Amino acid sequence: MAILEIKGLRKSFGGLAAVAGVDLEVQDGHIDSIIGPNGAGKSTLFNLISGYYPCDGGQVFFKGKDITGLTPQKRVKMGMGRSFQVTNIFPKLTVFENIQATIIYRIGKGINFFSDVRKYAAEEIEEILSMVELIEQADDMAGILSAGDRKRLEMGIVLATAPDLLLLDEPTCGMSPAETSNTIELIKKIAQDKSLTVLFTEHKMDMVFSISSRITVMNFGAIIAAGKPDDIRANEKVQQIYFGENRCSSK
Ligand SMILES: Nc1ncnc2c1ncn2[C@@H]1O[C@H](COP(=O)(O)OP(=O)(O)OP(=O)(O)O)[C@@H](O)[C@H]1O
Ligand SMILES: [Mg+2]
Repeated sequence: MAILEIKGLRKSFGGLAAVAGVDLEVQDGHIDSIIGPNGAGKSTLFNLISGYYPCDGGQVFFKGKDITGLTPQKRVKMGMGRSFQVTNIFPKLTVFENIQATIIYRIGKGINFFSDVRKYAAEEIEEILSMVELIEQADDMAGILSAGDRKRLEMGIVLATAPDLLLLDEPTCGMSPAETSNTIELIKKIAQDKSLTVLFTEHKMDMVFSISSRITVMNFGAIIAAGKPDDIRANEKVQQIYFGENRCSSK
């Protein structure tokens, strides 16, 4: 079954078609990726899927429901979790509190503020922190974390929204090779342990080819190829657009 289905999705900025009619399906339980040169439209597509930008045309179906007009918050509540290319955390809260704030937001009401708020949801927070390997940094201020730890915290924050689908925009951007391979293993493990579906964008091809079930290649807002890693590796059009250097940018 497709957990996510996109039909004819479009978004322009001024005269520029950033996403120019994209069709895409992500099957339940897959780890799939979207690749393409800088400016291909990957982040814009993620912003349309998560509802962060309204689309100019097309439809998004999540778990079989048309969610095209829903707010980002409603999509999160339905089980769509996303991270941003640029890390999105509360720098003045501790690592523990960052996860806790997300859980409180998710649960919304029913919190008894006369109880010890500091321990609220401690068990779930610890489970998430151990999953993203941040237990030892639990009391550190999020603003002082290394780039790799920050990305892991961001993944923890997304997990705290209790997602079924994880949208990760360049999860290893800014990481060293060692941190990158650690993160690949982490994503695989989390996806397996929590039965999550993952759709991610990435410029590091080793990572893309090692964990994707299916790869979609974008260029100038359109899909130019889609298929299994071996098919994409052998695709001439893909090889041509990867002639130049592309890397993650912190826009
Ligand atoms: N908010 C915006 N306003 C105007 N133009 C935008 C906006 N967001 C993206 N664009 C433009 O849309 C195009 C697609 O950008 P997008 O960020 O989606 O590409 P990308 O594939 O994520 O690139 P990268 O690999 O560098 O992250 C680019 O030409 C970009 O300049
Ligand atoms: Mg991007």
